[in-house]
Amino acid sequence: MNTPLPAPIDHAARYHQHLLACGFQPKPASAWDARAAQSSWKRRHDDYSDAFLARLDLGSVATVLDVGCGPGLLSLPIARQVGHVHALDYSSGMLEGLRTAIEENDVDNITPWALSWSDDWQAVPRCDLAIASRSLMVPDLEAALRKLDAHARQRACITFATGPRAGVPELADLLGRDWLPMPDHRYPINMLLDMGRDPQVDYLPESVRDVAQDADGLVRQAVELFGALDADEEARVRAWHARSPQHRFGMAPTRRWAFIQWATGR
Ligand SMILES: C[S@@+](CC[C@H](N)C(=O)[O-])C[C@H]1O[C@@H](n2cnc3c(N)ncnc32)[C@H](O)[C@@H]1O
Repeated sequence: MNTPLPAPIDHAARYHQHLLACGFQPKPASAWDARAAQSSWKRRHDDYSDAFLARLDLGSVATVLDVGCGPGLLSLPIARQVGHVHALDYSSGMLEGLRTAIEENDVDNITPWALSWSDDWQAVPRCDLAIASRSLMVPDLEAALRKLDAHARQRACITFATGPRAGVPELADLLGRDWLPMPDHRYPINMLLDMGRDPQVDYLPESVRDVAQDADGLVRQAVELFGALDADEEARVRAWHARSPQHRFGMAPTRRWAFIQWATGR
């Protein structure tokens, strides 16, 4: 008897299950508003944006859609090279930062859109290229990829995390806490293949953030990740910080990102 083919893998269902296992809660826009207060497109500038832009071919591109644009780290430099950028984000704080950058830089070819991944994008023009940089931690990844694809006449491009931020697994070990890594770039790659696309995958070099992190900051981050720490746990985190400065969040490489692009064929 012949061995039957294995059943097809439902990557969207597995992604959903993975999110549930990690206890993923989608961030409300207000969580990003708070982050926006600390970041501006200039201050956040690091080697991530250089690496991203170096891989982005804008040759035959007149219009770009930037989904989850934040304060414009990518929208601003892209706008210098193309006719128009439509920059979309659901966080009013992030869009405020973008508007400030637009004014300060005297830019007249970026249109901000206050919309989320799950809103109706009918009013947003389809563009030659659609990008989503570090903005795809959403409950329905497959729907988001399809939406991006449908809004791109020529190509689409995303970045997706390949693994946790530096230091997180070590910290979990140190605290003896359970910790499950979030879904990584394998999910969107497989979903795109299932959509009949040919994803091209590259990896951005690990970028180093230019902000120093002190022991208090590391304790705060540990609490954000793992919940309240008792006195002994806090002491262990402080001792670890003192012992292993190269593993401090902030000083360490943040995360390795996969850069995934594909032709949309429209
Ligand atoms: C890490 S920032 C990335 C900003 C910019 N794309 C970059 O790479 O510098 C993530 C951005 O995605 C936006 N975002 C997250 N979830 C979103 C959603 N469901 N709809 C629209 N924007 C979202 C956030 O407001 C934030 O500005």
